[in-house]
Amino acid sequence: MASIALGVTGGIGAYKAVEVARGLQKHGHEVTAIMTRSARRFVGEATFEAITRRRVITSQWTPGLNADIEHIALATSIDLLLVAPATANTIGKFAQGLADDFLSSLHLATRAPVLMAPAMNTHMFEHPAVVENLARLRARGVQFVDPGEGYLACGWVGKGRLAEPDAIVAAVERLLRPKASTLVGRRVLVTAGPTYEDLDPVRYVGNRSSGRMGYAVAGEAARRGAEVTLVSGPSRLSAPPGTTLVAVRSAAEMHEAVMARAGEADLVLMAAAVADYTPAATAPRKIEKQDGPLTVTLVRTRDILADLGRLPSRASGRPVLVGFAAETHEVVTRAQAKLARKGADLIVANDVSRADAGFDVETNAVTLVGTDGVDEVPLQSKAAVAARILDRVELLLATPSLEPRS
Ligand code: CTP
Repeated sequence: MASIALGVTGGIGAYKAVEVARGLQKHGHEVTAIMTRSARRFVGEATFEAITRRRVITSQWTPGLNADIEHIALATSIDLLLVAPATANTIGKFAQGLADDFLSSLHLATRAPVLMAPAMNTHMFEHPAVVENLARLRARGVQFVDPGEGYLACGWVGKGRLAEPDAIVAAVERLLRPKASTLVGRRVLVTAGPTYEDLDPVRYVGNRSSGRMGYAVAGEAARRGAEVTLVSGPSRLSAPPGTTLVAVRSAAEMHEAVMARAGEADLVLMAAAVADYTPAATAPRKIEKQDGPLTVTLVRTRDILADLGRLPSRASGRPVLVGFAAETHEVVTRAQAKLARKGADLIVANDVSRADAGFDVETNAVTLVGTDGVDEVPLQSKAAVAARILDRVELLLATPSLEPRS
């Protein structure tokens, strides 16, 4: 049973949302209806109240509601935000990140998946502004139940009619269904975060990696039933449920932690931004400033992924190896070279020249480069990207390597 927030916005299809609420309840879900001001011109809130047996939320400003800031409280407790029907106006507000009513604020505050069932006049649906807004939301991981074609309330014939309630309920069920436990019995080692290379007791050379991508992969692997060890450099994130955290600091510590565990793993995903260089020596005391410039000698660290790639072949038990690459240009060519150089099975290449992907942001767009081909994963949440990476990795796990490595 899931807790679902059902946003009803102002379209003629609002009456069908009553059937959606009833259908969700039949599946055992708890539904909280949220009606926008214009939705209430089409259907009365009493109808939803009677169906859901819960108070219907119609405003952010109802006295008493701000005692526990309701949109935040609801945001953290729901498993899904469903908007049916979703008007062009609400789609636009979500795409722009506006928050001028309860529903749009809830959309920003929740981390639950979002499913929208658009409904509007055909020309509105085809307008470039709406097309762009839908694409933008899709790239962020929002899912859609496409409208149907037929006679619209406005007398036109075309695409724009709210999908049938049964189809919307079925889409909810698909989305909430736990992923098949495809990684049960698999041991997965994930590295994440930056490494800190100490110069002296107070200073270090580090990088801007937040660890989000690696933590998302670790969390998704655990959800799929794997036994997950997360070897992480310094990060503010907490280990995802079901994973075992091994905290390390430097590239050398990460090397040791990974090498000690890789023999037992079926899969190693190197999402960490491991330092390529480390100070030749760490000063035992704080380095004092001098008048002239300071020269620090950095030496190469050991490449963990390349060391793993030199282990005996997959046929004799070497784990599947996935590397991550941060590139600013010639993404695929450079990733292909890295794949061969490091003896990995797959490279997840990040174009870090984009502001909305890569380091320290919630979203990512990657290219999966393997010996068996190249897959583009468009911009979406890091959790959704993690799922796409693991879908591809599962294929690798199922295919024993035909080419034993030397
Ligand atoms: N890696 C590693 N050990 C290192 C450095 C990197 O295992 N000492 C891993 C990273 O975890 C990542 C991949 O190797 O999976 C990144 O490859 P790398 O060649 O370091 O790429 P970039 O640093 O992105 O780029 P460059 O080629 O410029 O070094």
